[in-house]
Amino acid sequence: MICGSQKKSYLKSQNLKIFGQGKLNGRVKISGAKNSSLVLLAASLLTNEKIILDNVPRLTDIENMGNILKNLGVDLVFKKNRLEIDSKNISIKELPYELVNGLRASFFCIGALLSKFGEAKVPLPGGCKIGLRPIDEHINGLKALGAEILIEEGIVKAKIKGNKNKLCGTHIKLKCPSVGATETLIMAASLAEGRTIIENAAREPEIQDLCQMLNKMGAKIYDSGKEKIFIDGVNKLNGCIHKVIPDRIEAGTFLIAAAATSSSIKISPVIPNHLEAVTHKLQESGCLIKIKGNSIQIKGKEIKGVDVETAPFPGFPTDLQAPFTALMTIADGNSKITETIFENRMNHIHLLKKMGANIKLNKNVAYIKGVKTIKGMDLAGSDLRSSAALIIAGMIAKGSSKIYGLEHLDRGYENFESKLKMLGIKITRVFDKKNLMYKEIKIDSESEDIQKFNAA
Ligand code: EPZ
Repeated sequence: MICGSQKKSYLKSQNLKIFGQGKLNGRVKISGAKNSSLVLLAASLLTNEKIILDNVPRLTDIENMGNILKNLGVDLVFKKNRLEIDSKNISIKELPYELVNGLRASFFCIGALLSKFGEAKVPLPGGCKIGLRPIDEHINGLKALGAEILIEEGIVKAKIKGNKNKLCGTHIKLKCPSVGATETLIMAASLAEGRTIIENAAREPEIQDLCQMLNKMGAKIYDSGKEKIFIDGVNKLNGCIHKVIPDRIEAGTFLIAAAATSSSIKISPVIPNHLEAVTHKLQESGCLIKIKGNSIQIKGKEIKGVDVETAPFPGFPTDLQAPFTALMTIADGNSKITETIFENRMNHIHLLKKMGANIKLNKNVAYIKGVKTIKGMDLAGSDLRSSAALIIAGMIAKGSSKIYGLEHLDRGYENFESKLKMLGIKITRVFDKKNLMYKEIKIDSESEDIQKFNAA
């Protein structure tokens, strides 16, 4: 069994070797959504009965979330992509620091634990490479529901005020449509006394998936997916069986990869309206898109530069900004990519420039002049989606590339390289045994990449 830190260095010494100018062809199966599975795992704490989740992707984020729940006394059995969760023997209400620190989504357990047990202690999730990622919306909403919150030595200690055993429904208006805060507060409100209204709620499909599962468990949640969500608290939530929705970000990544290599592929299962902002942008850039039931067919053509501005759902997803930027590096003409959700999510820009992309970055706006081609290089991604962007760039590039930072990639893409290999890309995961002995991985690029790499 490889423990946490060993596993990280194990993964750090791996890279994906990609032979450039490849083509994709055929059909790829889209896995269950990471960001849905994570919050559904947190929601399973709300019942003493068994929850069965189907279509759960095998990812390190999911494994880590499972370890956190096991640490609380939850019984979890993972059989292929089915997860059986039994929370009846929970004995601890404090999440372990060393496990939470690397997985922001674990903070979303606070709403479930507080609502069910009247108290919760969860370490602050901390920032990450894409931004500070505050939790003020989570905290303010829980306080509005009647929680007393203390933050001591990096631990958020929450308990229901006045020794009541239930939170109290109220009207909450979020400052920004935070996905995590909306999820935390829905879970907290589901067992509260009375009605809670969440205004300016996030509308992401993963939230709708959470509400669908909670309603199967007996919750009374209305209008999920709209800006105003209504939750009538109930006394108890039951077990259920739930199938996780397809991962729209993985789906979008494959569509962008097909566009970037002028390929034709079919992706399924997908829920097409989860990807509208992405398919519309790809059509605007010249791709042919055909939607049939739960599948999307794309034919990459001559790509022309288009402008993209990320926004909360149903806008263009921030999680596909980096992959789409990689596509625009070889578009015909200019494009402007604006990141509006996270303050530091342009870490891939300087790496794409090393490959020969013509990009001027001004704060969170990238001005791109398309070039004929970019050249393969050895580079390290610094977060999940920038690593995916570098792999797309590696597929486009002349020559081969080695992409490090797989400890990020494996958090969010199930069997990524084997799916790409099946589609015809020459890609292999290489384990640099010799490098495992060194503290840092020597890759042919300036020290800043190594620093970034180590930051990973
Ligand atoms: C979720 O993160 C996703 N993670 C992210 O996916 C995704 O990028 C993000 O939503 C936006 O869609 C999971 O679902 C596990 P937010 P979350 O709260 O909930 C500010 C990936 O690659 N904010 O919607 O943390 C915050 O600073 C990951 O799969 C506050 O100001 O995102 C940010 O600027 C990365 N106060 C904006 O809202 C708060 O209390 C959006 O953050 C909370 C957030």
